[in-house]
Amino acid sequence: MKILAFAGSTSSTSINRELVKFVLKDFHDEDINLIDLNDFTMPVFSVDLEKKGFPDEAHNFLKKIEECDVIICSLAEHNRSYSAAFKNVFDWSSRINVKVFQNKPMLLMSTSPGGYGGGNVMNTAKTFFPQFAADIKDTFSLPKFYENFDMESGVINPDLLKELKEKIENFKNTVKTND
Ligand SMILES: Cc1cc2nc3c(=O)[nH]c(=O)nc-3n(C[C@H](O)[C@H](O)[C@H](O)COP(=O)(O)O)c2cc1C
Repeated sequence: MKILAFAGSTSSTSINRELVKFVLKDFHDEDINLIDLNDFTMPVFSVDLEKKGFPDEAHNFLKKIEECDVIICSLAEHNRSYSAAFKNVFDWSSRINVKVFQNKPMLLMSTSPGGYGGGNVMNTAKTFFPQFAADIKDTFSLPKFYENFDMESGVINPDLLKELKEKIENFKNTVKTND
């Protein structure tokens, strides 16, 4: 199984990337492609630029999705929504293919230092990603990242760890069944 993983952030210290990496440990036998949105930096989307053509990076992002079997991602929340970096990749990609996520089974996550764990961006993505052909199998938000996550051992809050592990197991079973 080919896994495409990413954080919706370009931060070199992204906590969402840490959460993704922690989850990927449970998929160590699989073919993992953890991409960095910094490799998909494009000019800010505009309809005027679009008339001149699409950046290679947008095609590349869609190709990464095309090549994978499942998507594991965690979105950063900026001002209650997507980070500008993620939104830009999303916008450009959606203009090439509105089915951005190409019906790939997705484990959708978010985390933030706050108590809602990126719940706003999660709600937006949960509501609208399916309109872009996301097949969201499960979601998980980790609140208070710096209290609930240890950089060495991962999620340390027992209840949240239990919830996440159950969701990972269910996700694995669901995508196996779909094979
Ligand atoms: C411009 C900006 C806006 C932010 N807005 C929110 C917000 O609305 N809700 C929230 O929970 N955290 C917010 N944060 C804090 C981010 O959740 C925090 O920076 C987190 O580390 C971002 O994820 P990342 O480390 O994966 O990039 C904001 C941070 C920045 C820089």
